Amino acid sequence: MPVDLSPHEAAAFRRGEAPAPMLDLIGLMACHAVRAARSLGLFDVLAAGPLTSDELAAAVGADPGGLGELLGLLRATGYVERHDGRYANTAATAAWLCSASPVDYGRILGLWQTIVEEQWGGLADAVRSGTPPGGFYTWLATRPDLSSAFHDLQRGMAEWLAEEVVSLVPLPEGGKSLLDLGGGHGLYAEAFCRAHPGLSGTVIDSAVTERSAERLTGRPAGRLTWRAADVLTADLPGEQDVTVLFNVLHGFAAPDAVALVARAAGTLRAGGLLVVMESLPERGGNPADLAFAAGFSLNLWHTQAGGLYPAETIRGWLEAAGCAAGPWQELTRSPGHALVTATAPPRG
Ligand SMILES: C[S@@+](CC[C@H](N)C(=O)[O-])C[C@H]1O[C@@H](n2cnc3c(N)ncnc32)[C@H](O)[C@@H]1O
Repeated sequence: MPVDLSPHEAAAFRRGEAPAPMLDLIGLMACHAVRAARSLGLFDVLAAGPLTSDELAAAVGADPGGLGELLGLLRATGYVERHDGRYANTAATAAWLCSASPVDYGRILGLWQTIVEEQWGGLADAVRSGTPPGGFYTWLATRPDLSSAFHDLQRGMAEWLAEEVVSLVPLPEGGKSLLDLGGGHGLYAEAFCRAHPGLSGTVIDSAVTERSAERLTGRPAGRLTWRAADVLTADLPGEQDVTVLFNVLHGFAAPDAVALVARAAGTLRAGGLLVVMESLPERGGNPADLAFAAGFSLNLWHTQAGGLYPAETIRGWLEAAGCAAGPWQELTRSPGHALVTATAPPRG
């Protein structure tokens, strides 16, 4: 957690009277300290109640001297607090970093830490030349631990958002077929099928198979069919009532994203719906949201040649593919996300 600066100190950093990059250096150190603490099981042990440093060292099987140093940084950065010589998790740690926390942000932090450490090399060269190295999904496929954290993160977001997403899409009465391109875990397709009993879904994804999706969601695929294929090149089924592209376009360079939108539009029957959900770069939000979105977009560009595309750019792609796009709708459950529904023209 960022250091809790006094207004006077924050102003001094902002005015350049103190070296602002020091705050990022502290963040970098804190990030590693949190990873070490989680690996020792420290936050979970403290979740059971406050302990002295020696008790904690014995409980997690650590050297008291080393642990004391680690606790020093965790305390200075707001992850633990000390009262009467006993350490306890802060409210923020209890809420986000214990196994019993509603969201395990430590796993997300670990995933991002590894992505930045292993995938952001050569950033200056890429920016200079305009040629990002890409290859994110190829790299991810070689790292089963990270891959499961990545797909689990998508699943967690989908669990949180699916109900609202389904409620925002006016599926045609009697719709029978839904195609989810880059659908990963398949939870969105499943939620549409649950809400519309006559609907069956096909999920096409290059990395997630029916078996791995069942492992991710903990339940059988139901009315979904999986195909492991590249959405840019695979033969896609036609005459779909609805095709969705959720959080997929940002992973492609603009020319590929344009081609993918056109391919997706080509899967629809006359009057069928193409639904796109994306994180949009133009958003309100607090400075932390905005800074994360900027870092996310840079990461997409460097590791996938993609990026967060503006709403109007995506609308233009939908219209170029012959679809009539409605207004973007922001999700109340995740204001950084928005979806747009576009209708395929009548054939003839
Ligand atoms: C950010 S995830 C989004 C997953 C899901 N649609 C969601 O919104 O939660 C992007 C998905 O696209 C898949 N993907 C990326 N490139 C692909 C490609 N060329 N062909 C098929 N799937 C691809 C990935 O495996 C991943 O599951």
